[in-house]
Amino acid sequence: MGDSKELTLDEIVALCKRRGFIFQSSEIYGGLGSTYDYGHYGVLLKNNVKAEWWRAVVQERDDMVALDAAILMHPRTWEASGHLEGFTDPLVQCLGDCKRRWREDHVREEQLGAEDAEGEIVCPNCSGELSDPMQFNLMFKTHMGPVAESGSEVYLRPETAQGIFVNFKNVLQFARKKPPFGIAQIGKSFRNEITPGNFIFRTREFEQMEIEFFVPPAEAPEWHQKWMEDRMSWYTELGIRPDNLRLREHGSDELSHYSSATSDIEYLFPMGWSELEGVANRGDYDLTKHAEFSGEKLEYFDQQSGDRYVPYVIEPSAGADRATLAFLVDAYDVEEVEGRERTVLRIHPRLAPVKVAVLPLVSKEGMPERAREIHQQLRQVVPAEFDEGGSIGKRYRRQDEIGTPYCLTIDGQTIEDGTVTLRDRDTLEQTRIPADDVVSEIERRLGEPWSPPARS
Ligand code: GLY
Repeated sequence: MGDSKELTLDEIVALCKRRGFIFQSSEIYGGLGSTYDYGHYGVLLKNNVKAEWWRAVVQERDDMVALDAAILMHPRTWEASGHLEGFTDPLVQCLGDCKRRWREDHVREEQLGAEDAEGEIVCPNCSGELSDPMQFNLMFKTHMGPVAESGSEVYLRPETAQGIFVNFKNVLQFARKKPPFGIAQIGKSFRNEITPGNFIFRTREFEQMEIEFFVPPAEAPEWHQKWMEDRMSWYTELGIRPDNLRLREHGSDELSHYSSATSDIEYLFPMGWSELEGVANRGDYDLTKHAEFSGEKLEYFDQQSGDRYVPYVIEPSAGADRATLAFLVDAYDVEEVEGRERTVLRIHPRLAPVKVAVLPLVSKEGMPERAREIHQQLRQVVPAEFDEGGSIGKRYRRQDEIGTPYCLTIDGQTIEDGTVTLRDRDTLEQTRIPADDVVSEIERRLGEPWSPPARS
């Protein structure tokens, strides 16, 4: 186990539900197709994924600034960006019994081996005849103000990127940056996908972690290469096994309307290799278009050299939900310990929702108070949980399944010699340490390098 080729997505979905990571949205009403809600541990995990992204792309760099743009933008944005015209997928409808709708390119790939293969395709559900394809725009449309009249249409953004492009001038002016520099943003985006699916992999509402990195045009290929390498390293440094990660260059027929070159960072999910993050060279497409539509000059003037140019843009665009799913899949392991099955999330301690759990085993002579005291000290420095419910076996199982790297038990011996037992999630090694040292010991261990342990 632990090898994502053998693991099914259903096992991940079941763990997420059992341990309160992720639920179907509006479950009491039967759920809403492909929308999900994050529960306590899911929120903590995804927040950690996002925090590690901010740390790597902003905090540890001199050439990046952060942005949080509004989801609703001036409708002209989407004319300029080309989304109104070109952000479409080919839709076919079953003309047979079931009338279901499909993405033509996906059906073609499934039935004929390639998205653009010539030949007849049929409804994947009932083998009925399919309609001719029509282009379906993926943007969600709504109306601004109380009356749904023509001219009041606005769109839920389909990518956070445009919020960055329209702020290029503001950032140049106020952040005092010059190319090469980047703007990073995390936020929700929306796409009315024809066929969402695979749990949180493809949903209609999702969270992006995007960088638009502005460079002198001649430096674009070099920065493109560099960003691909940097972003691949981010995943492996956070514990994704390198064999489960690859770079795949887009063919010219796959490129988005704005891209001159894109490579996908793909992960070996249970359903096969799929995109985790795209790293595109968007050239000067977006700034030029927004300059044309807005009448603003969106260029850089280098006072030293006297050069004036529209920067090229390198865009590493990652999905926070997809990354969360990949970290969950890669961490999932089932092993046998003393004849019993143990499910464990071998997740990087920096991503683990809870870093340490305090598990009191005795209820006499001031021990519950001592356990609470230790928990109180720990939670000042790391996310720590207190769990006194059920047998110790059950409590360990719970912590293993949410990926807690360390468990501390307060037991009879604590009364005698003031020590507690520290259990390591990955090795199952148990060490007795003085109760007074737990905070420094946990901090020391969490600060050590970590790599994914070998799987059974
Ligand atoms: N900004 C690139 C994308 O949303 O796919």
